Amino acid sequence: MSERRDHAKDFWQAVALSADIGQRPKRVFFEGAPLVLFRSAQGIAALFDRCPHRLVELSTGKVVGGEIECPYHGWRYDGEGRCTAIPGHVGAMPHYRVRRYAAIERDGVVFVSSGAPQGEPYLHCMEGKDIIARRVRSSTQSTVIDAAENILDATHTHFTHKGLLRGLTSKRHLVRVEVTGGEGWVEACYTGEDRQQGLISRLLEGERAKTIGRFHHPGIAELEYWGKEGLVLATTFHLRQADERTVEGVGWLIGQRQGLLGELKALAFKPLFTIALHQDRRVLKSASDNARFAPPALPVIGPLDFLRRDIAAIMEGKMPPSASEPRVYQIEL
Ligand code: FES
Ligand SMILES: [Fe+2]
Repeated sequence: MSERRDHAKDFWQAVALSADIGQRPKRVFFEGAPLVLFRSAQGIAALFDRCPHRLVELSTGKVVGGEIECPYHGWRYDGEGRCTAIPGHVGAMPHYRVRRYAAIERDGVVFVSSGAPQGEPYLHCMEGKDIIARRVRSSTQSTVIDAAENILDATHTHFTHKGLLRGLTSKRHLVRVEVTGGEGWVEACYTGEDRQQGLISRLLEGERAKTIGRFHHPGIAELEYWGKEGLVLATTFHLRQADERTVEGVGWLIGQRQGLLGELKALAFKPLFTIALHQDRRVLKSASDNARFAPPALPVIGPLDFLRRDIAAIMEGKMPPSASEPRVYQIEL
C-alpha cells in the first residue's frame, strides 16, 4: 500500500523563546493540546505533555540526561517520545511511547509542527539583512484574528496609542492604501503618510516612504516601515490560539543596523513597544470579556477594516478576496 499522509499540517509554528527552555521543561499549548518542551540529547524536543502511565503532566517532572522524567513513578522518555526507563522494572522494556511533535530552534525561537515540514520555518521579514533584532513574547486574552487585525490596524493608533504611535493632535493626512493578496497572504500598503508624530515614530524612523501591514498563514502578522532607502524597521509576530481565550505571540522587533545609533534605537524600541503591547492587550481583553454576553457577537466590518475578510479567508485555508481583486482606498490617517 502506498503511504498516504495529510500534508495540511506540514508547517512550523513558533511556540516559545529558546531562552525560556533551560534545564527545566516547559509546557506550552499547541493546537488545543498541551506539549512539553525540553532539551534532549538531539536538541529541542516536543512531546504530548501527558505520561501514558497515569496521565501526569511530564512538564512537572525534570530533565535527566536529555530525557524527561515523570514526577510520579519516574518513567523516562527520550526526545522521540520512547519510554526508556521504568524504575524498579527488571527485564525487557515494554514499548511505550508518547506522541512526539516535530521541533526545531531557529534564531532564538522554538517552532513545532504536528505534521512533517520539509523546509525551514519563516522567521521574520528582515531575514538575511544586517539588522538588530529583539525577541518578544506576549499572551493576550483574544483570538488570533482579532490580535492579528489589531497589529495591522492603523486606525486604532490614534486612540489606543495616542501620543505613543500618533501625535497628541487630531490632525490627519490623506493616505492611499493598496490591498493585495495571494495564496496564504494579504497586505495593506500605506503611502502618502506624513511622518507619524508619536514618540516611537520620532525616535525610530527617518522619513517614511511607505508602511506595509501583512498577514500570512497560519497566524503571522508583520509591519514594515520603509524609508527612502529601504526597509528600516519591522516587527513580525507569530500568533497562535493557545486555548479558547488566549492568544500567544512570539515575535521579533527588527531594526536596520546603523552602528551605535542603531543600537541605541533598538534599545529604546523594546520598552516603548512593551507599552503599546500593554495598551493593545487591554482593549483586546475588554472586547473578549464583552463578547460573551448575549446576544452573540457579530463584529461589524467597517469601511476601514481592510484586511478582516482576507485574514478570515486565509485562516480558513481559502484564497483571500484581494488575490483576485486588489483594492485601493483613500483614508485619513
Ligand atoms: S504517571 Fe508517569 S510514571 Fe506513573
Ligand atoms: Fe496597537
